[in-house]
Amino acid sequence: MELMTQHAFWNKHRPGCDEHYLVHQLRTDSDYLPELSRIAVKDGEVLGCIMYTKAKVVGVNGDHEVLTFGPLCVAPKWQGRGIGEFLLEETMTIARRKGYKGIVIFGEPDYYPRLGFKTCDAFGITTAAGENFDAFMGIELVKEGFKGITGEYYYADIYENLPEEDVERFSKAFPPLRKLSFPEHEAFQ
Ligand SMILES: CC(C)(COP(=O)(O)OP(=O)(O)OC[C@H]1O[C@@H](n2cnc3c(N)ncnc32)[C@H](O)[C@@H]1OP(=O)(O)O)[C@@H](O)C(=O)NCCC(=O)NCCS
Repeated sequence: MELMTQHAFWNKHRPGCDEHYLVHQLRTDSDYLPELSRIAVKDGEVLGCIMYTKAKVVGVNGDHEVLTFGPLCVAPKWQGRGIGEFLLEETMTIARRKGYKGIVIFGEPDYYPRLGFKTCDAFGITTAAGENFDAFMGIELVKEGFKGITGEYYYADIYENLPEEDVERFSKAFPPLRKLSFPEHEAFQ
């Protein structure tokens, strides 16, 4: 799964990537939710994965539990065949059944709206810094799932705590890949 994730994200948002190390670290993180996370497998090959963690929205009326996920990824040669959408729909069904109200993510603003995500300003949810922007999105798992859930969004530390040297050390166990810079990386800085 780590290898598939590395290939899915390599040079995608920056030269190289750290998402394969994120996947590895998430497995043992206290905020990780394995009961919601899934991999897509065909003939023993991992084609894609989605990993969920606990998150919260902190407002004047208290803390509200929400979900987030990341990474969601599909092996490059299997992309564009509906696997990403399938992983998301399946896991949203499980989350809904378990009583979760909604999901908040930082993600691709051109991909998630087609799956029903809206920018978080629609829900009265901001980042911890009080910001809203296109990549900051949410979806209600039930009708009016975010009703009464307004405030600032906080997510697991692990997403912000992947030291470069640890990523490099971890990556040495993988077949070498070349890091490349592309103009579109600027949008992710
Ligand atoms: C984004 C990703 C998970 C989508 O999974 P997928 O199985 O390829 O997507 P699906 O088959 O469900 O959907 C395909 C559609 O989404 C579009 N799409 C895929 N990635 C997109 C992106 N980054 N931005 C905009 N549209 C995108 C495709 O063009 C296709 O559109 P079409 O149906 O009109 O032809 C996958 O492409 C991936 O792993 N990308 C690299 C890692 C990544 O960026 N993950 C998301 C981080 S937020």
